Amino acid sequence: MEATEAIEKWRSIRKYKTEPVPDGALRKTLDAGRKAPSWENVQPWHFIAVDDEGLKQKLVKLSRGQKFIASAPVVIAVCGDVGAWDKPRNREALLKATAEVVDNLLLKDPVFCVAEHGPSIILARTMEQLGIAYGFMCVEAVNHGLGCCIVGAFGNEMTGSLRQLYDEVRADLALPERVYLLALLTIGIPDEQPPARPRKNFDSVVSKNKYGNPL
Ligand SMILES: Cc1cc2nc3c(=O)[nH]c(=O)nc-3n(C[C@H](O)[C@H](O)[C@H](O)COP(=O)(O)O)c2cc1C
Repeated sequence: MEATEAIEKWRSIRKYKTEPVPDGALRKTLDAGRKAPSWENVQPWHFIAVDDEGLKQKLVKLSRGQKFIASAPVVIAVCGDVGAWDKPRNREALLKATAEVVDNLLLKDPVFCVAEHGPSIILARTMEQLGIAYGFMCVEAVNHGLGCCIVGAFGNEMTGSLRQLYDEVRADLALPERVYLLALLTIGIPDEQPPARPRKNFDSVVSKNKYGNPL
């Protein structure tokens, strides 16, 4: 019920009160990301709660002047570990979890082997997992009365822009070599109540059995 309500209440929030984010609510929000599902449970993520003013200002620059980022009491730097895919994983556990549909031979099939598809697919798969994680965090944040905004437009491996500044931010965040900064999630107590932004009609995005056939 709480999740349904939070989804209903969802709006991107870009104005925040100056009050800090309660520590418990922040931890719960981050923990919701930690609990998100991922491909083979690989969990290729790391979340850094940023409240350092100098670093937040750099994030504004990195995002081509999106000033609301610095006005948020906390910015979660959502990082993706592209190296996570090539670590030997507990395939036995995976087999147990999916015993009825997957056998050892099938696990060697390219559809299961993300690491063999090259850097752009690895990056895409990493983004996919992060999207689920920050989606979970957004719902949890709303549940705690917080407002947030996902920020994807900034210099990094996805956009290929602002390489020098990005490297500086990477150094500030002390990111290991194969850990990329792939999204930001601004968080604070909302100081605006924007109306719900329009969505496409249900029937224009949902079908039954065939594209365009109404459910
Ligand atoms: C992956 C992703 C990246 C986004 N990047 C930005 C961004 O860089 N700056 C921004 O202000 N909003 C950004 N947004 C927020 C969207 O603009 C917003 O979700 C959309 O307009 C719908 O509005 P709503 O979230 O209030 O329903 C992003 C959203 C997503 C999902």
